[in-house]
Amino acid sequence: MNTANDFALWQRAVQARTEDALARLMPSENSLPVRLHEAMRYTALGGGKRLRPMLAAAAAELGRADTAALTRVMAAVELIHVYSLVHDDMPAMDNDSLRRGKPTCHVQYGEATALLAGDALQTLAFDILSSGDGEAADTADGARRRLAQVAVLARAAGSLGMAGGQAVDLDHVGLPMTRPELEQMHRLKTGALIRAAVRMGALCCEGLDTAALARLDAYAGQIGLAFQVVDDVLDCEADTATLGKTAGKDADNDKPTYVRLMGLAEAKNYAHHLIDGALAELADFDGRALRLRQLAQFVVARTH
Ligand code: IPE
Ligand code: IPE
Ligand code: MG
Ligand code: MG
Ligand code: MG
Repeated sequence: MNTANDFALWQRAVQARTEDALARLMPSENSLPVRLHEAMRYTALGGGKRLRPMLAAAAAELGRADTAALTRVMAAVELIHVYSLVHDDMPAMDNDSLRRGKPTCHVQYGEATALLAGDALQTLAFDILSSGDGEAADTADGARRRLAQVAVLARAAGSLGMAGGQAVDLDHVGLPMTRPELEQMHRLKTGALIRAAVRMGALCCEGLDTAALARLDAYAGQIGLAFQVVDDVLDCEADTATLGKTAGKDADNDKPTYVRLMGLAEAKNYAHHLIDGALAELADFDGRALRLRQLAQFVVARTH
């Protein structure tokens, strides 16, 4: 089998594992309050690239990972991401009507339910990460790793991570930003959760030393930034049907983006430069880093 096919199969397997875990771990649509649970399942199931679960799974291939722990991580990081999308699309933020090829949560269920769905998706992530899935009780080491994962995810989602980056984004609508300011904003609003996905996946494994974890973190920082640079490029270049979200929204909303700062061609070059840097961080890893290397390429090659 060629490498591209093999990677596509691996991606589909991770996507299916994420979907199954979320479908099983989210409250059913029949449980009260029905409308809130419907809205949560509507937004979290049946779409998205599942990049963050893929990154966690790829990092977990570097060592002997605990399967149940990795599934928890994959579900939790995706739930935080989905919550961030629900709130990002709301009228007070980007005011978007299309997400993952469907009407956004607030368009489908109203603003109050969307707000609550985002809140509940966020807390469900920590519920899953901390309480697990009925599997055997943790060893002391398992409990220590789990606590570390909770801390990593909490930090990445909060005011020093994603939520903070979103605040900076909104504060700069229509205003110029220097390159260091823009970089910091992208590192927070998108990069922080991507770094957390890699770190939490690595924390499912035994035997990764501090130096390896530091190189992984440097890899994740570069692909996290590159991911949002490419998101800015695709907003300009791709069409709405391919993206599954409204194209051209950043320019319409006068958003600070890499395309606005440096133009399309330079933004694309910069994304490639970041990916080269990310791959260089993996130079000392063996074949077990294959999926991490492929995901780095995927971040720049993607069409949506
Ligand atoms: C979109 O993320 C929002 C950003 C952080 C740029 P994704 O492009 O990963 O969205 P889905 O999960 O595939 O829908
Ligand atoms: C949002 O960035 C990043 C999040 C934390 C959700 P964007 O606003 O560019 O994401 P899209 O383009 O709407 O997916
Ligand atoms: Mg936004
Ligand atoms: Mg948006
Ligand atoms: Mg965008």
